[in-house]
Amino acid sequence: MTFLSNIFASNESGSPSNGVVGIDIGSSSIKVVELQERKGVITLVTYGEVQLGPYAAKPLGESVVLEARQEQEALVDVIRESAVKARGAVFAMPLSSSFVTNVSIEADADAELGAMVRVEARKVIPASLSEVTLDWAEVETTSAKDKKGEKTKRDILIAAIQNSALERFKVLMQFAGLTKPPTEIECFSAIRGLFDSDEENMVLIDIGAVSSKLYIARKGLLMRMHRIRAGGTIATKRIAEVLEIDFEEAEQLKYNANKGMDNFSDMKRAHNSSYDRAFREFNQVLREYEDKTGIKFSSVYLSGGGASFPGVDAHLKEVLGRDVVTANPFSKVAYPAFMEDTMKEIGPSFTVALGAALRLFE
Ligand SMILES: Nc1ncnc2c1ncn2[C@@H]1O[C@H](COP(=O)(O)OP(=O)(O)OP(=O)(O)O)[C@@H](O)[C@H]1O
Ligand SMILES: [Mg+2]
Repeated sequence: MTFLSNIFASNESGSPSNGVVGIDIGSSSIKVVELQERKGVITLVTYGEVQLGPYAAKPLGESVVLEARQEQEALVDVIRESAVKARGAVFAMPLSSSFVTNVSIEADADAELGAMVRVEARKVIPASLSEVTLDWAEVETTSAKDKKGEKTKRDILIAAIQNSALERFKVLMQFAGLTKPPTEIECFSAIRGLFDSDEENMVLIDIGAVSSKLYIARKGLLMRMHRIRAGGTIATKRIAEVLEIDFEEAEQLKYNANKGMDNFSDMKRAHNSSYDRAFREFNQVLREYEDKTGIKFSSVYLSGGGASFPGVDAHLKEVLGRDVVTANPFSKVAYPAFMEDTMKEIGPSFTVALGAALRLFE
């Protein structure tokens, strides 16, 4: 319990002046962002990304499950190639080895929730409780009167990480010379990477290689999470089918796509069709949340590598009927002016890594 309990409240002390590296292990690539406090300003020191496909003899952009040795090699490579020197680190645990969900429990205001949450967790977590490290937080409470009197519905966010994954990542971090970095599930890093204290409510959609995630946060705290298997790797496969080319070529085309290309409209149609269902489901989750809470979301942030495909923002806007803002987490830190265009271009991919690093500056 103690290990995860600070994913909901992070206030451990670090030494940001010696640099902090945020590490995001995605299903297709590892991203790192190093930040340092310089004269009171959080400053970008370096960043880097390494594609995982080649470590398992697969093409770029392919999602892979690596063996421990390959994963270690990839992490060491990206740290070396991007010249990360930080002493401190924060590790963002992939949602794929975690489980985050909301449950609603009917209980009085003074009820001892711990035991009740474990009972609910047993029902919703697709693993035995002895195989996971569990944490939870109460996110909402609504009172409603019924025939039996006052009933209080307590909305609980449950987070669980497979113990085997915790162990695997612990070994990985040791291997990279990072002893016991603070660890949180990637959703918390992503929210921190974009949260602006002026915004009471925030929605973020992260399009990764394997899955797309929707996060709803209030005052920077995760309220709801929804994850769907739809992502860049699937889009590439669809493009490869439609254009009758292999995965590698399709990935290359997708990556370099621009609206002036000959086959752009075929590519775009194939691409968008891979996300239709996911976007519609996100819309439904948003509407349900709005109906329940009375909150209205006028815009959503879009991040993840998949956010970079031309026109994906317009497609999402059409389905959601809300403004879509492509994320630029680097706007939270200082960097040289000549890097402006690059930061905007690559920003969406680095939301998790940057948000993880920011944790030690709070
Ligand atoms: N400039 C780009 N244009 C189009 N697609 C891109 C671009 N950059 C990255 N992508 C796509 O984004 C996907 C990778 O996104 P990201 O790095 O966020 O995933 P991940 O973190 O590895 O995966 P996950 O979050 O699902 O574990 C790949 O499918 C890649 O092709
Ligand atoms: Mg990711």
